[in-house]
Amino acid sequence: MDFKDILTRRRAINFFDPQRDVPQTLLEQAVEDAARAPSGFNLQPWNVIPLRELDDKVRLRAVAMNQPKVTEAPVVLIVLADCKGWEKGHPTLERNFEEMVKAGSMKEAQRNWFYGACGKLYGTSRDTQLAFGVKNTAFFAMSLMYACANLGLDTHPMDGFDHEAVRREFRIPDNFWIPLLLAVGYFSGEDDRPAPKWRKSYTDIAVRFD
Ligand SMILES: Cc1cc2nc3c(=O)[nH]c(=O)nc-3n(C[C@H](O)[C@H](O)[C@H](O)COP(=O)(O)O)c2cc1C
Repeated sequence: MDFKDILTRRRAINFFDPQRDVPQTLLEQAVEDAARAPSGFNLQPWNVIPLRELDDKVRLRAVAMNQPKVTEAPVVLIVLADCKGWEKGHPTLERNFEEMVKAGSMKEAQRNWFYGACGKLYGTSRDTQLAFGVKNTAFFAMSLMYACANLGLDTHPMDGFDHEAVRREFRIPDNFWIPLLLAVGYFSGEDDRPAPKWRKSYTDIAVRFD
């Protein structure tokens, strides 16, 4: 599939075939393809909680506006943005620094500069921490939807859920914010895919204010 086909094939699919499972290997491939997404300082502040068991999906559906696709899709991912992924001591940040030293793009002597730069850019307020987590995770989530489309999988992003209830139900720690849920599976009416919806044009999108 070329990229334009992937862009067109990806739709927010409402009806999943509950009988058609997503092989674990395919899910892992999609997630790792999506992890090619860019992130500030390559800090990759994203995680997912994959739910496959009906009991888990029933618990999620109860706090996600009772959306049927939550239980119909074989897999639902709770997508997590780690708003503390910029902080000194965070395992991904520490690994990232080590990898940069190994690759020769940073020197050990720059460690404190690196901690300081991350803190200054992302850690100065609740807003900057939230923006850091959510914008990077949104790039990952978008990449994941395209990676799924490339592998013949359908997806549906959802923000129709009670954020704090999902946090409580799945014991999600406070450093995470939950930008979206993502249903993954196969459209139940493959021969009858929904018609494309309208989009803004270039002239609608391009603006300036000075
Ligand atoms: C962040 C986000 C949250 C969304 N939340 C929901 C949702 O809770 N329920 C739903 O039915 N659709 C939801 N949608 C799907 C949108 O309605 C859909 O993407 C949009 O109408 C465009 O349709 P398309 O994705 O098929 O092109 C969401 C989409 C995004 C990107």
